Amino acid sequence: MDHLAFGSDKGAASSVTLSCPSCGGRLERGFGDTGTGSESYGILSCGCARYPVVAGIPILIQGTVPGSAATTEKICELIIAGDERTALFDLLLRPTRKARSDTRRLMDYVPGISRKTRRRWQTRHDRKEWHREAYRLLYEQRAETTACDMFSAYFGEETESSRNTCHYFSYRFAQPRYLTTLAMTAMIDPRVGPVLDLGCGSGHVTHHLQSIDPEQIVVGVDKSYFMLYVAKNWIAKNALYVLCDAETRLPFDDDVFGSVLCSNTFHFLSDMDSCANELRRITVRDGVFFLTAVRNALQPHSTPNNALSPRQYAELWGDLSVAMLPDDMILRQYLEGKSPDLSTNSNWESLEHAPLISLVASADDRPFHPGEPFSSWPHARGRLRINPLYRVERRPEGDLSLTLVEPSRFFADENVEANAYLPERVSVSAQAVADLEDGTLSDEVRRLVEKCVFVGMPTGYDRSIEALPPYVTRTLDSGSGREAR
Ligand SMILES: C[S@@+](CC[C@H](N)C(=O)[O-])C[C@H]1O[C@@H](n2cnc3c(N)ncnc32)[C@H](O)[C@@H]1O
Repeated sequence: MDHLAFGSDKGAASSVTLSCPSCGGRLERGFGDTGTGSESYGILSCGCARYPVVAGIPILIQGTVPGSAATTEKICELIIAGDERTALFDLLLRPTRKARSDTRRLMDYVPGISRKTRRRWQTRHDRKEWHREAYRLLYEQRAETTACDMFSAYFGEETESSRNTCHYFSYRFAQPRYLTTLAMTAMIDPRVGPVLDLGCGSGHVTHHLQSIDPEQIVVGVDKSYFMLYVAKNWIAKNALYVLCDAETRLPFDDDVFGSVLCSNTFHFLSDMDSCANELRRITVRDGVFFLTAVRNALQPHSTPNNALSPRQYAELWGDLSVAMLPDDMILRQYLEGKSPDLSTNSNWESLEHAPLISLVASADDRPFHPGEPFSSWPHARGRLRINPLYRVERRPEGDLSLTLVEPSRFFADENVEANAYLPERVSVSAQAVADLEDGTLSDEVRRLVEKCVFVGMPTGYDRSIEALPPYVTRTLDSGSGREAR
């Protein structure tokens, strides 16, 4: 049986082969395979362990799959039994998700049963309810389900933290940390080899990486199955995805990737040293490493992370040259229409005061050059749509009135730098709406792109965006300014 190789249709030199994260052995398809001939479901094995492939995503960890209550062993059994749907739905079930029906609450009042029995009932009820909802979203109404529907269904509204995470992913396009990452990707040279998006989440940045060159092999890696599933099915469909833990041996051969990008993720890792060594192993000698939107340990932040100081981040890369910039400087240059200036030495004093920093490391000189004007706005790649942060109202004359509505105070504070470019209110002429629809880059469309009122997004991202312009049904009232939803 062939080993699992991705992208081999683009030439042997650019294929990406998977190996076992425990023993490094070649992973082969076959052990306990369902025999259905389905490429998207199966079992991989190397002799030391077996790993499931679910809906085309290899799950290369053992034990509980992070972000779900499922274990890889249980998922393998379901696949062998031919129950692919249960395998998929169980992986997409957030372990702390509670059923939204009253029945769950009423179970608390049933007299004479132990706490343990009640929990068991509730867990079973939660899972059943989720399976019904997943069936509706992924089978009955699949054509209408958007990426944002998936975020709401998975994260729900139960806790402040799940709401904040849901907002982060739903409104990711055009966040300041997204723009700084796009600025850094201007330095990626697609000719050097495949690009790895480490901790790719649900694929927002992956979508951008793919759009740079459709021929480019982009591999997204994350430890959350839900995130990868949304990336693969909605946000960046042509990339390849692997579920693995960035803090163990990475499941790739030596010298495979030309560049590695890790956006807003590296500071969550607890063993950055071994991750940096692994990244160097799987990347060619002249490869380039981009860490973007990384938290600085010298500056306080409310959410838990394992941030290092700027100097410690630089030391991770040994003998490679490193250029590091504060994210607010990268954002300023981005808004002026330029990629970051990486030609000068890192200014440690200003870096110490920066809450977020980004760095480039390489043995090659190519990336370390002065900023250059963008030939087109990086955030405009994909289909131009109204930024989902705007509430849209139609004036009687057919113009639109857009009002910025931040989903929460937390979101507004986390993205405060967006005040520099997102207007609180803005009018869009009926002509610009028509231009947006047929892809005409008129002066007004360009001006709105410059302010990130219009941003490039994949189709099927958000239902209201897809339905433009008929979804604009409200007539203008006199609400004002920034507000919390
Ligand atoms: C804040 S999100 C950023 C997602 C994406 N890079 C972006 O910029 O939108 C961080 C992501 O890192 C992933 N992650 C955290 N620790 C990881 C690990 N040890 N291995 C793989 N992925 C990890 C999380 O599952 C999450 O999707």
